[in-house]
Amino acid sequence: MPRLKGQVAFVTGAGRGIGQVMALAFAAEGAIVGVADIDPATAQATVREIEKNAGAARAFAIDVSRRDDFLRAVDELVAEFGRLDIVANNAIVFRREPVAEIREETVARMIDVGLKAIFWSAQAALKHMDPERGGVIINNTSPAAELGVPRSTVYSAIKGGVSSLTRSLAVEFGPRKIRVNAVCPGTVPTPGARAMNNNDDALYESRRQRCPLGRNGTAEDVASAAVFLASPEASYITAAILRIDGGTTVNGGA
Ligand SMILES: NC(=O)c1ccc[n+]([C@@H]2O[C@H](COP(=O)([O-])OP(=O)(O)OC[C@H]3O[C@@H](n4cnc5c(N)ncnc54)[C@H](O)[C@@H]3O)[C@@H](O)[C@H]2O)c1
Repeated sequence: MPRLKGQVAFVTGAGRGIGQVMALAFAAEGAIVGVADIDPATAQATVREIEKNAGAARAFAIDVSRRDDFLRAVDELVAEFGRLDIVANNAIVFRREPVAEIREETVARMIDVGLKAIFWSAQAALKHMDPERGGVIINNTSPAAELGVPRSTVYSAIKGGVSSLTRSLAVEFGPRKIRVNAVCPGTVPTPGARAMNNNDDALYESRRQRCPLGRNGTAEDVASAAVFLASPEASYITAAILRIDGGTTVNGGA
């Protein structure tokens, strides 16, 4: 029996990378998926992939940092499919640079997409998640929230905010039966993350060697944890930050 049968999910940054695989995984477990990405072509491609596997999905080409666009997209999803059960906040703008070089526009853009959008997702969840059935918000944080990572100050600060917001939302939304958790991937060499790290194969090899399980992560590793957190098996789990990192974080860094 598919674990998310009849449910409706909304996944941001679902055009590629971890978000895309998460959207495919939710659909494979029976959920109808709203596929949101700023890039319309990749959002459509994810929808086509879901439909090819006999799933149902709809693409939303939106900038998640814009409150009106976020809420309108979820309104449309619910108008079409009748309910909202899962929101996964995954979209990100990656950038690594020394503090001395950071520009105001870069900080603003990264915070708007990586952190501010989560507030709009929370408002959409409150509006549409059924008070009796409840629902689930899954944020995507990072070991960078806890570790000191050079040239990653904006990203680290955002992810510190995402982890903190996850806990506060979990407490505020508990009485509404909305569980709020975060997945915390270690090293997942998606095209986006690799580009941020200048496609540095040596860096990925050193991270692999530091991983107690001896390999870097995959988007599928993260997506299966997200499916678990969304499923009834996790019905008493809220405010959790679930590391999916093969043990790397406790072994000296991501
Ligand atoms: N890859 C890793 O190693 C890793 C590790 C820890 C955490 N994470 C987190 O996982 C998530 C996904 O990472 P990824 O590696 O798949 O990234 P990615 O760069 O491959 O994908 C990000 C997606 O977000 C979309 N996006 C960007 N701005 C947007 C906006 N304004 N509105 C809507 N969509 C927008 C992009 O178009 C892209 O499809 C992020 O939150 C990231 O911080 C990744």
